[in-house]
Amino acid sequence: MKRMLSGIKPTGQLTLGNYIGALHHFVEYQDDYEMIAFIANLHCITVYQDPKELSTNLRDAVALYLACGLDPEKATIFLQTDVKQHAELGYILACYTYLGELNRMTQFKDKTAKNEQNLTAGLFTYPCLMAADILLYDPDYVPVGDDQKQHVELTRDIAIRFNNKYSPTFKVPEPLSAKVGARIMSLTDPTRKMSKSEHSDKGCIYLLDDPAKAKKKIMGAVTDSFGEIKADKVNQPGLYNLMEIAASLNGSTPEKIAEEFAGKGYGELKRYVGDAVATTLEGIQARYRDILANNVIDEVLKQGAEKATLIAAKKLDEVTKKIGLEIR
Ligand code: TYM
Repeated sequence: MKRMLSGIKPTGQLTLGNYIGALHHFVEYQDDYEMIAFIANLHCITVYQDPKELSTNLRDAVALYLACGLDPEKATIFLQTDVKQHAELGYILACYTYLGELNRMTQFKDKTAKNEQNLTAGLFTYPCLMAADILLYDPDYVPVGDDQKQHVELTRDIAIRFNNKYSPTFKVPEPLSAKVGARIMSLTDPTRKMSKSEHSDKGCIYLLDDPAKAKKKIMGAVTDSFGEIKADKVNQPGLYNLMEIAASLNGSTPEKIAEEFAGKGYGELKRYVGDAVATTLEGIQARYRDILANNVIDEVLKQGAEKATLIAAKKLDEVTKKIGLEIR
């Protein structure tokens, strides 16, 4: 069975973008692949987090993994810091990554371009930790949204470099993102990615948003003044984004939805998309409440960490031996 691995960093509540671009694919794949899905808590602190809020967000993220349908009997679910090998291999791989490569990472470049102050060294080197997260487990595929593909490409380069310097050690993984929904855009600015760090709450739907409020956000989404429903990503990005959201949730395509709604008003399309979102959130939230009430999270994480540690410890051991870090 081929192996897949991915993670989400809960620097806030998980979003509809996380669900469509990543989480719902993890669930799809868990039957046909050996799925490893973790909570990337070390990645959260590259930017300051309120400790209480962070802790709550981590618990919510695990509950949401389960509520979205990840099954601990099939998938390995764990918290990054419960498997100590991540941080150690992250440091080691930073020693096999060039500053020039990290400087080219668009996420970091974007932050520098915006002149954000007090950027941390952790934020700069986080792609090395992400490479470690992946390479510890030799996955064949890494399902991610579009914005993370560059980091998986860097991971491949680091793996190839290490393999060439020593001997084959790491499997070189492929990034995997869906044709529809790999980059869900903000509802208030369809030229920007929907993200947890949006300035306004209106552009982003959170998985724990009240479904009626989420529908309102869809109804208020920025579109255009063409007045015609077409699947035109370039000229009508706002409308296309809404169709992409509904298409991902209903297993359709923006083109099919555009055909169905040809000649109708934007309001009707928005109601359809809003209903698809509200129905999805209602289902997820009902399961989320059950999961919290049943207190299953600690046990899921314990079992997941045990399974993950078996794989990660073996790999780190191989790496430290090859480099010569151990005294023989
Ligand atoms: P993060 O937490 O920013 O995002 C988690 C996943 O959600 C996807 N995503 C989106 N997809 C579509 N539309 C959007 N608007 C949207 N926003 C987010 C992301 O592409 C990602 O797949 N560094 C990673 C977490 C990570 C990781 C890893 C992932 C750490 N180690 C190892 C894979 C493998 C991150 O910050 O993702």
